Amino acid sequence: MTNFSQVNSRPIPVTGPWITQKEIDAVADAAANAWYENATLYHTRFEKALAAYTGRKHAIALPHCTSAIHLALASLGVGPGDEVIVPEITWIGTSAPVKQLGARTIFADVDEKTWCLDASSFERCISRRTKAVILVDLYGSFPDMDAVLEIAADHRVAVIEDAAQAIGAEFHGRKAGSFGLASAFSFHGTKLLTTGEGGMLLTDDDEMNRRCRYLADHGREPGTRLFWNTTVAYKYKMSALQAAMGLAQLERIDELVARRREIFGWYREELACNPELVLNFEPPDTKSTFWMTTVIVPERYEIEKEQIMQALGERGIGTRPFQYPLSSLPAYMDAPDAPTAPTRNVNAYRLSPRGFNLPSGFNMDREQVRYVSHCLLEILAGAERHAGAHSKLSLAS
Ligand SMILES: Cc1ncc(COP(=O)(O)O)c(C=O)c1O
Repeated sequence: MTNFSQVNSRPIPVTGPWITQKEIDAVADAAANAWYENATLYHTRFEKALAAYTGRKHAIALPHCTSAIHLALASLGVGPGDEVIVPEITWIGTSAPVKQLGARTIFADVDEKTWCLDASSFERCISRRTKAVILVDLYGSFPDMDAVLEIAADHRVAVIEDAAQAIGAEFHGRKAGSFGLASAFSFHGTKLLTTGEGGMLLTDDDEMNRRCRYLADHGREPGTRLFWNTTVAYKYKMSALQAAMGLAQLERIDELVARRREIFGWYREELACNPELVLNFEPPDTKSTFWMTTVIVPERYEIEKEQIMQALGERGIGTRPFQYPLSSLPAYMDAPDAPTAPTRNVNAYRLSPRGFNLPSGFNMDREQVRYVSHCLLEILAGAERHAGAHSKLSLAS
């Protein structure tokens, strides 16, 4: 029998990385040696290793995933007058570059099971101004890639795969990060593979690779006159220390994915007694990384996610909200597409108020998962009693 007072003696953060001596040694080596003629040694190794891992031709190490998406859109010439479609449920890093480039953000609904871009909603959002769609592999899962890629090809819409949260996931045997014209990873400290901050842009397209490298280096053509900029562009670089850490983490990727899946498996077992709770869905022939174990609570509990998260927080348990629909954020208050989004994107607006992420960091052990699950079930039982009493009162009045 679990002694919960012991488990609860320290707070449980919502997520965090798994760093071993291997990563520490790699970063120390970069700090000592990745200078002079070796300044880009770790970048090249990390880029090559990630390209090989995902089956891509080119990979470009960057300061973050947002810069990868920004570069991909910029290299496509996205700008004023263009539209880019994004799913409602994602972090703003997916969509911010669209507005930064002066294009219009179009919000598409998500599928109620995968929580990723819904193919038919995507198709309805396409207009003659659509330049690109950004797919998001939410929480290490996938949209219906076959359907979405076919629609994009039929309408000649460029596809960018935002695989920020999905390194190690697989769709029909293909790795996350291998879909579309370009794909992007994040190595932020919360991610499954981390470099502290960091990102990678991947593509099979030689011209896109050339253009993105040029834009990422203040508009300098590689191999041309030194300090000779031919356009005003960006400075998007990863440090050698980060690249060394990323390479070491990538060499442990199978172990990292297996552990994350194990944590999810524990939650599934502990929460199985309440089959009404919806957890991350893993479609057939896909392998999710379950980057964040996520729960959607049924409406009948009449409890908002913020109330549950607060109650868990009072028990020392860190959580994060299921993403708010982008079109509901103050940041998009003036987006022309936002006012009609809630009625169009019903799945996003129905799921979001009832969803949140449970602690999923690599330092979670079985007892902590049991404790978190126990607390969640207890909070929901309280909400159920409250909802029951409330409905009796309204029947009586
Ligand atoms: C889906 C998604 N896209 C983009 C980003 C942006 O990544 P970064 O912080 O590396 O720019 C994140 C980061 O959390 C993300 O989760």
